Amino acid sequence: MTFIRSMGSALLLAVLPAADGVQMTGTGVLAAARVDRSAMVEGGVEAMLGAEGINSEEVSEGGSEAGLVSFFEKYPHTRFSLDKPGFVQRFDWKATRVSHFKNASLNDLKKNPKTVYASTSPDVINFLIKTLEKNFKGKKTERVLYVSGDLPLSKLDKEGKVTKNKKGAKGKKPVKGKTIEKLHKLFPGGVWYESFDVSKKGFRAAPVGLNAQYMRPLYTFAETAIAAASVENKPRMALAAWGRFHPELDDKIPARQKLAHWVDTDPAVEAGIEHKTYAPKDFWAKLRLYKFLLVPRSGSVQSPRLEESLLLLTVPIVTREGEKTGSKEAAYKDLKTLGYPIVVLDDWSEITAPKLDQWWEELHPKLESFRKNCLTTEGFWQLVTGQVEKCE
Ligand SMILES: *[C@@H]1O[C@H](CO)[C@@H](O)[C@H](O)[C@H]1NC(C)=O
Repeated sequence: MTFIRSMGSALLLAVLPAADGVQMTGTGVLAAARVDRSAMVEGGVEAMLGAEGINSEEVSEGGSEAGLVSFFEKYPHTRFSLDKPGFVQRFDWKATRVSHFKNASLNDLKKNPKTVYASTSPDVINFLIKTLEKNFKGKKTERVLYVSGDLPLSKLDKEGKVTKNKKGAKGKKPVKGKTIEKLHKLFPGGVWYESFDVSKKGFRAAPVGLNAQYMRPLYTFAETAIAAASVENKPRMALAAWGRFHPELDDKIPARQKLAHWVDTDPAVEAGIEHKTYAPKDFWAKLRLYKFLLVPRSGSVQSPRLEESLLLLTVPIVTREGEKTGSKEAAYKDLKTLGYPIVVLDDWSEITAPKLDQWWEELHPKLESFRKNCLTTEGFWQLVTGQVEKCE
């Protein structure tokens, strides 16, 4: 927990949309479900779950620390998981703050790394570049980098420039806007980037997986639903449940605005879309009964909702539109290439009853094997380290 608490506010914010995803229907429900946003930003997942009556420090009901550890080991967690077992532990170097790089029990900076996990924090990225350039100059290494965090790739170089004039401690001078180019050079094996809003040479959309902090008090609910989920037992068509934690994003994010307008129209209802709200503990058991989940973009490029849904053998439907009206997010194209059985649209109104039937026919046969082979720590690792090009 110490890492989590001491993380920068940017990262703390990053986690909020991640755990988002349950929608209220009427204004009364809306008011009831709204929680103090300033508290949420301050306390992150902790405060957000707290507002739902869930103590994020406690292990999920019916679970144990040992059970949680095996959940973390089995399923890929990339957010707030630096000090957790599983995916992040497999990297040679791992850091979401510069102090993590300097912690010898986490990182051996003298040993040339093949795999690195870092946050989008400019300080971390700059430290990483400087250290690799200094310690392993001229060494050709097929390194890969995984970058977790909410700073969009389109802004990575700009952030470098912003920090340019800051007076840092000696030896900590930032990289002056050449970040993307340098990372590409230092990581010829590829850079996996979560907030992949634009395409850049040598960079790919990173599969996001689950949020460890959010799962701690909820993992038994997820585990039970994952075990019970079956493509044969999905009596309901499509669920639209978003914005419970962040209703304010409905005004800011085009995909949310559009979904809010469309979801209660006749065509949406006729297509079988159910607009509902579920508390975090109930969400898993309910979602597994649906064939589809509509996942509008949140405050970040990708949402763990995608993986949560696929773990329940429910097909996520997303739209490409980014943070700005008319913009197109690059991430989903990459995810499709990686093998994600998802539906990617330009607009929600493309959803009709016949289309849903067609998508289900096409995608449902892929769901079980994708879950088994790809939505695991090992599956993510094989993708990220280039052992498989496409996971199925
Ligand atoms: C270094 O990392 C280890 C392992 O996560 C942790 O237990 C320890 O507290 C860290 N030390 C410092 C000085 O941060």
